[in-house]
Amino acid sequence: MWEQDYRLFDAARIDTVTVGVFSWALTQPAPEVYDFSMLDRIVQRAAGERRNICLATGTGAHPAWLARAFPEVTRTDFEGRRHRFGQRHNSCPSSPVFRQLSAEVARRIGERYADYPSIIAWHVGNEYGGACYCDLCAAGFRDWLRKRYANLDELNAAWYTTFWSHTFTDWDQIEAPSALTEHWRGPDHTAFQGITLDYLRFMSDAMLTNFIDEKAALRQSTPDTPVTTNFMGMYRPIDYHRWAAHLDFVSWDNYPPDDRSPARMALAHDLMRGLKDGQPFWLMEQTPSYTASRDVNPLKRPGVMRLWSWQAMAHGADAVLFFQMRASRGACEKYHGAVIGHAGRSDTRVFREVSQLGAELDRLGGALLGARTPARVALLFDWDSWWALEISDGPSRLVRYQQVVLSYYQALWEAGVDVDVVAVTADLARYDVVVAPVLHMLKGDLAPRLEEVAKRGGSVVTTFLSGRVDENDNAFLMDVPGPLGRLMGVRVDEWDVRGPEVVNPVRLRGGGKVAAQLVFELVQPDGAEVMGTYQADFYAGTAAVTRNAFGSGHGWYVGAGLDQAGVSWVIRQVLDRHELMGPYPDLPDLESAVRVTPEGERLLFLLNHSADAIDVPAPGAGVDLLTGRPVERGQPLRLKPSAVHVQTMS
Ligand code: GLA
Repeated sequence: MWEQDYRLFDAARIDTVTVGVFSWALTQPAPEVYDFSMLDRIVQRAAGERRNICLATGTGAHPAWLARAFPEVTRTDFEGRRHRFGQRHNSCPSSPVFRQLSAEVARRIGERYADYPSIIAWHVGNEYGGACYCDLCAAGFRDWLRKRYANLDELNAAWYTTFWSHTFTDWDQIEAPSALTEHWRGPDHTAFQGITLDYLRFMSDAMLTNFIDEKAALRQSTPDTPVTTNFMGMYRPIDYHRWAAHLDFVSWDNYPPDDRSPARMALAHDLMRGLKDGQPFWLMEQTPSYTASRDVNPLKRPGVMRLWSWQAMAHGADAVLFFQMRASRGACEKYHGAVIGHAGRSDTRVFREVSQLGAELDRLGGALLGARTPARVALLFDWDSWWALEISDGPSRLVRYQQVVLSYYQALWEAGVDVDVVAVTADLARYDVVVAPVLHMLKGDLAPRLEEVAKRGGSVVTTFLSGRVDENDNAFLMDVPGPLGRLMGVRVDEWDVRGPEVVNPVRLRGGGKVAAQLVFELVQPDGAEVMGTYQADFYAGTAAVTRNAFGSGHGWYVGAGLDQAGVSWVIRQVLDRHELMGPYPDLPDLESAVRVTPEGERLLFLLNHSADAIDVPAPGAGVDLLTGRPVERGQPLRLKPSAVHVQTMS
């Protein structure tokens, strides 16, 4: 089968393979036995074929013997049930045995394969995530807390433990927040947001420690080969901003929940690129055809795999890989799409499309490598705000962080503007526009840094439920939106929230009317001009959207859950002011993106996500990188459905 596979890899120009991701039971079949014969054959063969290898440590699932010999390596779930051996991503991050043995297998793999020049990257673990609530984790949590808080007084203040008689007088009284302790109705319903928030932070850090253990073990014999692990885009349990510095490059797996939102994928790509200050990333996994884990797993239509691969590259990917190369014969992923199906044929549509993409990238050579996105717009993304918003009791469980962030990103994306999605700690000096949707938690010196953006002429946009709490999830003892109030020139004393059936129309300055739903803050201008007013209920005629002149720039406050048209109106007002609209702002399904190569060459990507052909004039002169033909400015371009156009812009 390998003969056949390698012939097909060649045919498809597949030059990079990730191997060994779940290999632990093969490489260590018993406590004292390490057996690398299978991995040797795989690595030697791939290296002999001059294939680039991304070699995994294989610890994304532990072997059965390990769980049997040391039951502590398995996880305890939110309900308090100690799991037995099964599935994957199944190790307790605090288990000393897991930590020691996973690092040891990584050390041995590093040592054994360090000298293979074909190994261009190490892949630690797999899709870190989930959570554990065992006693070891509870002890780990207490240690983590001792480092965070100087003493129990500080911890009690941060968690506001005078509420419901929770004052802790000994560190050992602190429990992991679970269904057995602070929670009811699941992980988002907690009596103490501060405790749950710290546990989320701790759990993300505990798994990061696992990654760091293995990376350090690899580093003993391979000091230079870059190390990564595959992230999952907007994945709530892991704060990738806390992880990013420890990865040498970011890689992620793109399995969009539906096929209707290219903007959502673009947002995830930009988030991943933003983790390491705009450094290019790898698309580590995508299915060439369908997934298997959903109830219904639709097939990617002709051209869509290519379109989405190019979308990744347009947003900063320097490599595009697939899961999986050949279809698994058994177990739960046997119906997951693969480059090579069970029958090993090359005359399938999927294989043909993968080969065409391979040929295209082969012709392109290194033209894109290392290219950066020249964004003047930043969108702030913050895991703490995400967690705090969604574990909050009140004002509304219906306001979801990703949905609100996506609606603002969607507006930017439709306008065709390049966006950096960055952490709240990012340097904002290079941006003209900073968009901070539902910035629920305001940490450190962010408020003055946002004021700086406006002072020097930039625009800052924020929304309802922003500036509410400090880093411990305690309310600011001041008017809403807390430290953002000065910049926004507003004050909010009351807010109304309703179910999705209630719509309050908002009239925008200039006459347009849009709908608002879910959350309606009663915004009182305190210097800001009113840009939109509610049209119904007892607060009809009062402000829903405002703009405040601050320095030579603006602070925009959107107090209502505007529909997409409303969000787009706000975003376009802002982009217009800074002349940042993309080349085709009236064609929302035509995505445009720019990357600038290390040599300073500007590359423009146009991607047609609509079901219809789109005709546009070329926005500039250059060379079409896919055909090699010159492009004149204004020359008609016909983009068929799923078409991709990549050109230099001279
Ligand atoms: C993840 C994993 C792979 C595989 C795919 C299936 O990304 O890393 O092992 O399970 O999902 O979609």
